[in-house]
Amino acid sequence: MNDLWRNLGYEPHAGQHEFHAADRRFKLLIAGARFGKSMASALEMLPEATAMRARGWIVAPSYALARPEYRYLRDALALGGLILGQAEGGRDGASRLHTRAGGELWALSAGRPEGLLGEELDWLLLCEAAHLDRQVFERYLRPRLGTRLGRLVAATTPRGSNWMHELFLRVAELGDWQRLRFATWDNPRIERQEIDSARQLLPPEVFDEQYGGEFTARAGRVYPEFNPALHVATLAAPPGSVIDRGIDFGFTSPTACLWLARDAQDRLLVLAELYRHGQVIEELAHEIAAIDTALAAPGCVAGRAYCDPAGAIQIASLRRHMLDAVAADNRLGGIDLVRAALRPRADGRPGLMVDRRCVNLLREFEGYRWAQSAGDAARPEKGNDHCLDALRYAVAGMTVTVGWQQGPRLC
Ligand SMILES: Nc1ncnc2c1ncn2[C@@H]1O[C@H](COP(=O)(O)OP(=O)(O)OP(=O)(O)O)[C@@H](O)[C@H]1O
Ligand SMILES: [Mg+2]
Repeated sequence: MNDLWRNLGYEPHAGQHEFHAADRRFKLLIAGARFGKSMASALEMLPEATAMRARGWIVAPSYALARPEYRYLRDALALGGLILGQAEGGRDGASRLHTRAGGELWALSAGRPEGLLGEELDWLLLCEAAHLDRQVFERYLRPRLGTRLGRLVAATTPRGSNWMHELFLRVAELGDWQRLRFATWDNPRIERQEIDSARQLLPPEVFDEQYGGEFTARAGRVYPEFNPALHVATLAAPPGSVIDRGIDFGFTSPTACLWLARDAQDRLLVLAELYRHGQVIEELAHEIAAIDTALAAPGCVAGRAYCDPAGAIQIASLRRHMLDAVAADNRLGGIDLVRAALRPRADGRPGLMVDRRCVNLLREFEGYRWAQSAGDAARPEKGNDHCLDALRYAVAGMTVTVGWQQGPRLC
């Protein structure tokens, strides 16, 4: 593959390199304008487009929007002398080419969904996917990949909080998907001055969306401060720390448990999560004990479990399993405490970091919104908040109670 690119003179920049290195069958590339989405996503499909008898589609909201990707692939194939024949539809019709290996490649418009029926595909490239209709993707396009286990790349700049944002959140949990997000300035060929000039001109939420590659609609987010680039890292328990937990008990919904410690700079570190449906309390206690042990660094101490105050029976059961479980105080303004912890400090780093393996917590952070209710008190939407509730309980407990608790030594 790299040889093909080298012959073309294509040298991916670091962000594009990360995108190409992702090895899942489905890839979602979210990035600011001019990041290099079209170039990278088209050339990503070069091995597929050169394969024997492979059929692939480039689909965009219009024929015109499919053209950059089509051209990148056409030029790459032409350079290798791999094209048998081609017919360009330009801005008004489908373009197609046939390769010497018996493959075919079509550039199609989602504005003509009837043209998207019937074919089975080895690969599919969606351009400006956030402008596509959800139905077109779900009903016409995704099923085309089923029989040949085709690959998918969907590349786009975000567009409000629409179905693409939902997909971005949803696929964080799915093993055959990989999502990547970048800003315009991750393309080193874009002048800094140009970005600064746009920043000065545009409303911040538009700039963050179009250049930052962020799903904004910030106004509705309960934790607008949360930014994966700032708050997510690979973390380990600091030696000698007290490891507390926050627990939200699930009755019909999942139970979520988070493990938190403070580092030497008094920063809160979310080290691990447990997210389980339909578990009885004995199983939960066992899993908690196993993760306590797995996390412990030398000299770590098991602290408290700050629990959902509605779960008095569960709390009593956990205490019987030797867990220092207490009811969290729901009145402590946990959301404000979490928000305060998320803000950057004088050294530019935030007061709360999350381990990248806490996928459910990360998904909830980005999707959690205030309900659009007519009621007087602002309330977040119920639903995707189990880890966030557990976090709130732990942060409130760890912020308000005195830091040191004596517990059993973990190792
Ligand atoms: N690795 C690279 N090497 C050389 N030039 C690059 C590279 N990546 C991107 N570019 C250049 O940067 C510009 C933007 O690239 P491209 O059109 O792929 O970005 P895009 O994210 O699809 O932009 P848009 O948001 O306008 O659709 C183009 O001029 C392209 O040639
Ligand atoms: Mg493009």
